[in-house]
Amino acid sequence: MKCSQNYRWKIGLVLSSAIFVFVAAAVTAMTAGPSVVSSRALYSGERVYSENCARCHGNDGKARTAKGRQVGAVDLTSDEWSPNEARDTRIVSKGKGSMPAFKNRLTADKIASVVAYIRKFKS
Ligand code: HEC
Repeated sequence: MKCSQNYRWKIGLVLSSAIFVFVAAAVTAMTAGPSVVSSRALYSGERVYSENCARCHGNDGKARTAKGRQVGAVDLTSDEWSPNEARDTRIVSKGKGSMPAFKNRLTADKIASVVAYIRKFKS
């Protein structure tokens, strides 16, 4: 009797550590996985933005640069603009008014990452 109780206790300990490890792994996978991917995407989006867009739209998105004022670039933090993936992709690719087209300068991947990146100006 004493022996089997001890045995059950050990099984319980092993099971609960297994559950703990499983839950910890699942939580790590859920939190670390996607955020690593999206921060990488944001990083390259940030680079694409600073290299191609910031001279007009500004590093802060507010278009307060000399060039931005000159061409009347949209303040990406204002109500004048709200993120729309399809529309933004089209405008960045084909240009609009004084904004140049980027389809010959940026790959589709880079356009997608910068379109995702500029969403942060509204948050
Ligand atoms: C030469 C300056 C210039 C550069 C460089 C530039 N833009 Fe623009 N952008 C503009 C101007 C001007 C407008 C307003 C266009 C209009 O409505 O006539 C604009 C508008 C926009 C809009 C709002 C479009 C709408 O009407 O909803 C977005 C989004 C945008 N730009 C993103 C970008 C991104 C991303 C880049 C870099 C890949 C970029 N721009 C580079 C000048 C620029």
